[in-house]
Amino acid sequence: MKILVTSALPYANGEIHLGHLAGAYLSADIYVRYQRLKQRDVLHICGTDEHGVPITISAEQQKKTPQQIVDQYHGSIKKAFADFGIGFDNFSRTTLPLHYRMAQDFFTKIYNNGYIYPREIEQYFCPKCQRFLPDRYIGGTCPRCGSENAKGDQCESCGRWLEPFELVQPRCLLCGETPQRRATKHWYFKLSAFHDQLRAWIDEKKDWKDHVLQFVKGWLKEGLQDRPITRDMSWGVPVPLEDAKGKVLYVWFDAPIGYISSTMEWAENKGDPDLWKEYWQNKDTRLVHFIGKDNIVFHALIWPAMLMAYGDYVLPTYIPANQFLTLEGEKLSTSKGYAIWLPDYLKQFSADSLRYTLTRNAPETRDADFAWRDFQAWHNNELADVLGNFINRTLIFISKYYSSSVPTASSFSENDNRVLEVLHKAPDLVGERIERFEFKSALQELMRIAQEANRYFDHEEPWVTRKTNPLICERTMYVCMKIVTSLSVLLEPFLPFTAHKIKDMINFIPQQWDDISSPKVAPSIKKPGILFEKIEDNVIDVQINALKKREVTIEEFQKFALKTAKIVSAENIEGTKNLIKCVVEIGDSERQIVAGVGQHYKCEELVGKTIIIIENLKPAKIRGVASQGMLLAAIDGDNVILLTTDKPASSGASIQ
Ligand code: MF3
Ligand code: ZN
Repeated sequence: MKILVTSALPYANGEIHLGHLAGAYLSADIYVRYQRLKQRDVLHICGTDEHGVPITISAEQQKKTPQQIVDQYHGSIKKAFADFGIGFDNFSRTTLPLHYRMAQDFFTKIYNNGYIYPREIEQYFCPKCQRFLPDRYIGGTCPRCGSENAKGDQCESCGRWLEPFELVQPRCLLCGETPQRRATKHWYFKLSAFHDQLRAWIDEKKDWKDHVLQFVKGWLKEGLQDRPITRDMSWGVPVPLEDAKGKVLYVWFDAPIGYISSTMEWAENKGDPDLWKEYWQNKDTRLVHFIGKDNIVFHALIWPAMLMAYGDYVLPTYIPANQFLTLEGEKLSTSKGYAIWLPDYLKQFSADSLRYTLTRNAPETRDADFAWRDFQAWHNNELADVLGNFINRTLIFISKYYSSSVPTASSFSENDNRVLEVLHKAPDLVGERIERFEFKSALQELMRIAQEANRYFDHEEPWVTRKTNPLICERTMYVCMKIVTSLSVLLEPFLPFTAHKIKDMINFIPQQWDDISSPKVAPSIKKPGILFEKIEDNVIDVQINALKKREVTIEEFQKFALKTAKIVSAENIEGTKNLIKCVVEIGDSERQIVAGVGQHYKCEELVGKTIIIIENLKPAKIRGVASQGMLLAAIDGDNVILLTTDKPASSGASIQ
């Protein structure tokens, strides 16, 4: 049996953050490391996804070529994974000539098999930018709720899915111009033809995660629509047809084929170019796709249909998709700068602490939240105080009282045997959970062993028996070393850096997963070092504060209605020193605003000034006085200076 593991190809358009790790890569790495320790034939394949519209937009914004963008991020993403111990057999790129050939071959074969056909359609074209506009780059007014910030695929205000032509007053989000409808030709993949075959295939997947099955079955029930798989742009894999000049394959058509081309690259590097076929074209292969939940439809429906249309390839055996991770209770957002990027994290903390937190609280079956306080607590109370403590006290004891040579024993007490029995069962107990993709509970079992080990140490009191009964003390320390040895293997899938450190300290004798049900203990150890330093509160405070100050997008900024307003009247609010009640005129209307400028302005000074206000601030009561808006002022040291306009302006003018 061969196990072919893939992790979703990340877009080469930004750094890897926490959400990525928790979505696919960490689970995949745990699974693969475990399979290796079980000595199974496993391959872990990945690479960067280097096509798609967002990459071309980033390039334009940064005045670079798309190639420069993807070169930069391919390198930094690859490094971030390595720094986190995420190990791949091959980490490729979808801009390699090999991939272009593969993707074009795929298209051609499916085309020849009759599953791709052309269709004339109309699409929005921006006359100023001279390009067809992808759905997400068309803005306009939502036909349902009237929000002016709807996009060609969805209105974020009311959640409705849209077609670009449904937008009222459409505009090009790149330049603001009104787009025109233009005829164009695109090629469609006949997804509808695979409905029954997909249905039958999915019905066999009894042991898949519920949320994945539900999602897929929902789609099947709604009926499958044929999907356009070409785009009018120049960045991408050219469509291999005479009459498709200037068109490229849709990124979601070429990207999954990247799994195959990355495996081909691996085989070439091995000097055995056909070796990839033994994985992809072998009935005995288990193909496992690790992905986040936003990728389910592509991996569980469209991609299998593509494989069916091509023929010859294995179909996915498992798609253990994870749900989403939130950060301090809020959705992660790369565009809003709200995330923790791996390179930043690593400046302060160790990879294993994050691997631990994200596994302990993995979004396996429902969304999960990452909170810095949990991170700190789990690191300190569990990694340091439970796991680190047990290993540390054992090794220190041996180095101190036995000059680093490990005692042995040949007979055991009932209590010793109870602990040895726990070890005996551990590989299967933990392993079965990993095989079922229940990483969270696998880690829990593992930590239970460490807790048990501490209890055993406390109960045996080697610091007492050392003097009262040296033979018993030797026995205890021998059992403790068995536990440490087993832990060093059991931990490896989860905390590879820590496992490595432990193995080094105990002069680990090479052993695999199944061997450690009765582990071989090395005769001596090295000088023990600390595994986990405690994390202090102030270090965590800095991280929490950093999250609060984040970038906003233009869309977010546009939510504020900033206007000019003329102060019509002003009076001090009784009983306060600083609060002034102002009535302001905004165009034809008037409203009341409470301003905290009484220590800097007299009421008479204020009347007649044209100031800047936020018009759509939620009305509030300040000291019992209603305030409908807020005025803007510069805080310059102790001074407060009202913002006004540079030249006279009428009230009610909007500010952009
Ligand atoms: N780049 C996509 C994303 O980040 C994932 C592509 S997975 C593949 O959402 F199958 F297409 F490779
Ligand atoms: Zn435009």
